[in-house]
Amino acid sequence: RRPLADLAASLVQDVPDFPEPGVVFKDITPLLADGAALKAVVEDMASRAPGPIDLVVGMEARGFILGAPVAVALGAGFIPVRKAGKLPRETLAGAYELEYGSAVLEVHPDTIRDGSRVLVVDDVLATGGTAAATVALLEKAGGVVVGLSFLMELTFLGGRDRLPGRPLDVLLSY
Ligand code: PRP
Ligand code: MG
Repeated sequence: RRPLADLAASLVQDVPDFPEPGVVFKDITPLLADGAALKAVVEDMASRAPGPIDLVVGMEARGFILGAPVAVALGAGFIPVRKAGKLPRETLAGAYELEYGSAVLEVHPDTIRDGSRVLVVDDVLATGGTAAATVALLEKAGGVVVGLSFLMELTFLGGRDRLPGRPLDVLLSY
C-alpha cells in the first residue's frame, strides 16, 4: 500500500451500525477536515488521471467534495451529476438501483461538448450503481469517460464488475 493510503486510512473512521444495524459506515469527514491529507488526496487523484482531462464529473453529494478540487488541479471544468429534480434546465436522466427501489441521476447535457475527455470522481465505489449510471449518462451526453477515480472501494460489493474495461483508480480498498 502506498504511504498516502496509510495516511488516508488512518483518517477514515469506522462507524458501526450506520445507517442501519450490521453496516459499518466508512466516515471520511476526519480526512476532509485534515488540510494536508485533503490536499494530498486531491493532488494524487489529479496526478493519476489517464491522459488529458477536459471535464471532471462528481456525483451529488460526496462526489462534489473531491471532484471540484480535482477539476481545479487539472485545469478542467466540473460537471455536477445531481439527484433528480435539482437541475433547472433540460436534463438527461438515468435510473440506478438502490438496496430498495431505484433513484435517478441527472445532468445538463449541453455542458458536455461532444468528445470531451471525462474523469468521474466519487468518494466510494460500493455496488457500482451510482458510477455505472453516471457513465451511461455521460456517454449519452456525448462525453468520453476515460477513467474513474475513487477514494475507496468496498471490494466485497463487487462494484468494479459493473464497470468492465474502465480504467479505475482507487486509493483505499476494503
Ligand atoms: C454513496 C457514495 C457513492 C455511492 C456508492 O452516495 O457517496 O456515491 O453511495 O454506492 P454504490 O456504488 O452502491 O452506488 P449516496 O448515494 O449515499 O449519497 P451522498 O453522496 O449524497 O452521501
Ligand atoms: Mg455519493
